[in-house]
Amino acid sequence: MSRKDIDSLLKESRRFEPPAEFQSRARIGSIEEYEKLYKESIENRDSFWSNIARELHWFQPWTEVLRWNPPHAEWFVEGKTNLSYNCLDVHLESWRRNKAAIIWEGEPGDTRVLTFQMLHHEVCRFANVLKRLGIEKGDRVAIYMPLVPELAIAMLACARIGAPHSIVFGGFSAEALADRINDASAKLVITADGGYRRGKIVPLKETVDEAVTKSPCIENVVVYKRTGGSVSFHPERDHWWHELMEAVDADCPAEPLDSEHPLYILYTSGSTGKPKGVMHTTGGYMVGTYVTSKWVFDLKEEDTYWCTADIGWVTGHSYVVYGILANGATTVMYEGAPNWPEADRFWQIIEKYKVTIFYTAPTAIRAFVKWGEQWPDRHDLSSLRLLGTVGEPINPEAWMWYHSVIGGKRCPIVDTWWQTETGAIMISPLPGATSTKPGSATRPLPGVVPEIVGPDGSAVPPGKGGFLVLREPWPSMLRTIYGDDDRYRNQYWSQVKGSYFTGDGARCDEDGYYWIMGRVDDVINISGHRLGTMEVESALVSHPKVAEAAVVGKPDEIKGEVIAAFVTVESGIEVDEALSDELKAHVVKQIGGIARPDEIRFTESLPKTRSGKIMRRLLRDIAAGRETTGDTTTLEDRSILDRLRKGQ
Ligand code: PRX
Repeated sequence: MSRKDIDSLLKESRRFEPPAEFQSRARIGSIEEYEKLYKESIENRDSFWSNIARELHWFQPWTEVLRWNPPHAEWFVEGKTNLSYNCLDVHLESWRRNKAAIIWEGEPGDTRVLTFQMLHHEVCRFANVLKRLGIEKGDRVAIYMPLVPELAIAMLACARIGAPHSIVFGGFSAEALADRINDASAKLVITADGGYRRGKIVPLKETVDEAVTKSPCIENVVVYKRTGGSVSFHPERDHWWHELMEAVDADCPAEPLDSEHPLYILYTSGSTGKPKGVMHTTGGYMVGTYVTSKWVFDLKEEDTYWCTADIGWVTGHSYVVYGILANGATTVMYEGAPNWPEADRFWQIIEKYKVTIFYTAPTAIRAFVKWGEQWPDRHDLSSLRLLGTVGEPINPEAWMWYHSVIGGKRCPIVDTWWQTETGAIMISPLPGATSTKPGSATRPLPGVVPEIVGPDGSAVPPGKGGFLVLREPWPSMLRTIYGDDDRYRNQYWSQVKGSYFTGDGARCDEDGYYWIMGRVDDVINISGHRLGTMEVESALVSHPKVAEAAVVGKPDEIKGEVIAAFVTVESGIEVDEALSDELKAHVVKQIGGIARPDEIRFTESLPKTRSGKIMRRLLRDIAAGRETTGDTTTLEDRSILDRLRKGQ
């Protein structure tokens, strides 16, 4: 986010009331109703969450709602449930059996619809496949797939038998995939021969083959045939999805799992080099994603809901699959790029399926603004009734465009703030209750107690910026970092005593509205996806010609931020354009396309404090072409700033 955006956020005074028409039919239809719910959630936490959890199916009830031994929470203690059962089986008892659960469109234009009954059938069969491959309750399963229904089938099958999944976004490299597989000691990886992206085939199986050479824990690889292209096949290790499915039946009752049984691990970037395996468990995550889907998206039986996120990110886990299907709602999935074959693909999809709720990222909206109104103008978007955003702050200009061009000025916008770690939406408008201010995620959902604090951990007054923390535990919170509980404690619970540290800077205005201003740690947010600067730096330094590297985010009109890397090379190495390209390619190989530096600046040295810490703050100013603000007295060599500016 640029200074300009932050400045404009600070000055933003427009306010939009929930449209009366929307409000009259909304699940939560007034601010008083929201306030009542909020108050109840704080004053009677246990009964509040019990009442919500009771809307779902439990094989055995809980004996205690929350057992809180900070920083470890257990929710719905001793309860037994199954999220796959709650997403599927419960809907088979009613007419919903034949309702569309997934409406899917492939990038080449092929489509598939799976009813809840059909999805249940496939999930049960695939769960039996998993068992046949020796996967037992508790075993970790890695998934590296394109956005096809089989990805949802695979996750729901894992959840059905209690095998935690670890989904790795298809844009990550073999190295990154192998790291994640090894960290979780996954026994199985599920992939496809390829997936479509901008008319090309992404060779997922090839990447898996390379990753598996570094991952001895993998015993089997299941390959879904998506493109029909030729792939190499390891006779004992690799199996075709369709062949395995032929050999099993569809009888697979859902396993009653402990509420705290691990549901999945999802890796995300932190401020140190190694990605963190955020671990979510079953009962609390289920309750959190279920109820936030219902509240924030105002889900109704007749809705056609589309979240454009890839399932490889947490948004896809919570709001393409679990929270939406648990509500018995129809979820739309699209495999490919928004501008393929042309820049109106999303609008075409909305028109074709009469999408009513559309949830996407600010980076996508900024790209749409740039591509122009003529693309949405070609399509009838009148089916839309609600719009949402997630992943990064939305600048008011993009908000206004979304509101008028896509929403026809009639759709409320929910700007939802949350994280991989929170599992579910934390701060967001309720579309029938909260008046919105462009650029603000507005107010906390029931059960969420945010606060803005200063460096000493004490609350700051309204209007003043600080760190965003959460004061109370919530059902869908992460339980730990897989295999590294110390990191869990240090990262989230040690910075501000007794509170969960989000890593975000924010301020709260006089009306109690939260304005998220971006990360305060060494994490950059590129197109709504987190990347640790350390991860990219380690990738650069692993190149033999690189001596040292520092990476910072640089403001970008579309992506929010892009990566600028400052690199010093080993002595005697010639620096030129070719080396710059070589280093960019090296980072892509190490991490994946999302981490490709936009710019590499070669420099003789980096600005450091006397104790040797790189002063990234100064590099951020230089990358953005700004004057250096703030204190430079701790800088070891003052002349370096001038030299860096001159590109030396
Ligand atoms: O900095 C915040 C930003 O995205 C971070 C979380 O990233 P991740 O775990 O990848 O999850 C993204 C999808 C939930 C946050 O720490 N962020 C997320 N939503 C918003 C946001 N920043 C501002 N406004 C939002 N609505």
